[in-house]
Amino acid sequence: MTQLDVNLVEQLDDQARAILKANDRGGYTVPTDGLYPYQWNWDSAFAAFGFARFDLERAWLELETLFSGQWETGMVPHILFHEVDEGYFPGPDVWGCGRDLPSSGISQPPVAATFARKLFEQDPASGRDRIDDLFDRMIAWHRWFMEARAESGAIAITHPWESGRDNAFDWDKAMAAVDASQVKPYTRRDTTHVDASMRPTKFDYDRYIALVEFGRASDWNEAVIRDKSPFRMADPTMTFTLLRAHRDLLWLAEQTGRRGVEIEDWISGLEAGLGVLWNEAGGHFDALDLRTGRHSGSLSNASFLCWYGGVNEPRMQEHLDRALAGPSFGIASLSLQSPQFDPKRYWRGPVWGIMNTLIGMGLEEQGLTEQAGTLRRQTADLLAQHGFAEYYNPLDGTPAGGGTFTWTAAIWLSWASPSAGGR
Ligand code: SER
Repeated sequence: MTQLDVNLVEQLDDQARAILKANDRGGYTVPTDGLYPYQWNWDSAFAAFGFARFDLERAWLELETLFSGQWETGMVPHILFHEVDEGYFPGPDVWGCGRDLPSSGISQPPVAATFARKLFEQDPASGRDRIDDLFDRMIAWHRWFMEARAESGAIAITHPWESGRDNAFDWDKAMAAVDASQVKPYTRRDTTHVDASMRPTKFDYDRYIALVEFGRASDWNEAVIRDKSPFRMADPTMTFTLLRAHRDLLWLAEQTGRRGVEIEDWISGLEAGLGVLWNEAGGHFDALDLRTGRHSGSLSNASFLCWYGGVNEPRMQEHLDRALAGPSFGIASLSLQSPQFDPKRYWRGPVWGIMNTLIGMGLEEQGLTEQAGTLRRQTADLLAQHGFAEYYNPLDGTPAGGGTFTWTAAIWLSWASPSAGGR
């Protein structure tokens, strides 16, 4: 591992700022030009984290624009279709959500409150001015998760896209049980931007669309989806990010003189419930299929989010030590030992800067400072050597997916760069 040269760090900081500015569409940031031409939920929260390094005002605006798409149910969609773009499929017509601001009908990992807290900490005076409306919206979103998705004790997803880990091995068995025979022919756009070997397969895509059609036919009614959807899985990403976000929301409540009782109940409820994610046979956190009661048998990078969620699980340490020993640049999206490991294909092996960041933040906070430092240096080396890609081959760092990627630039600026100062 190298000590990065000061001039190189400055250059990379400049490049990262330039990427955020180039992907800025005025009030919201696209993840990358072409492949993802809209506002994505957790991408946007990371963008706010990155903007905060040089433009705090713009950082708050990113979150405010995201919450402008919140549904009356409290749900905050995973995509806001601000301006229709033919380069992306499926667009608003396929989702059929019928809102003034067209959106998808599913959500995404709730990291917004965590980064809102970071923004607030940076300047509490301006934070107090900005947080009022946002706080109420964030609490409504968190309440929606607890009411609509917590029936198992952990937090359920209704579509692989909700987890953010679209084609993770976690969903394979559940997806095989989804009937895609009624899906009409459609044209994928993602593979016009990125090589198909780095993207989900057609088998997966057919089922992604079948699940969107199921949601639309259910009028996006959460009770119907909970009872009837062929796909319902308790997900470590959602569970640990929400638990963590509850803690940050409680902190914000205390800072701004609000009552946090409801949030305290959510925290203790999730702490008590998340045990369903523990896979005893594998000895790690795992996804749980709520239709079959079976774990996926997947040691993924989401399994390592426990520390970020405030859960210091000693039985995960051996896995952590093995993952950090390499050869990967941080925590691969699927264990290198897994027979399904594929170093190029999206969430089935590649390493993601944002996941390294969340895991690293958790390790630092839970007192595993040495491991946190290792992960941060591995991430910094990866980005310094291979640029700001969407994700990377964990074995040799080859960049994959989209280029000039917003959230990778953002975590460089605010976490991985030596100039970030361990924020
Ligand atoms: N990640 C999905 C896509 O690739 C959508 O959230 O389009």
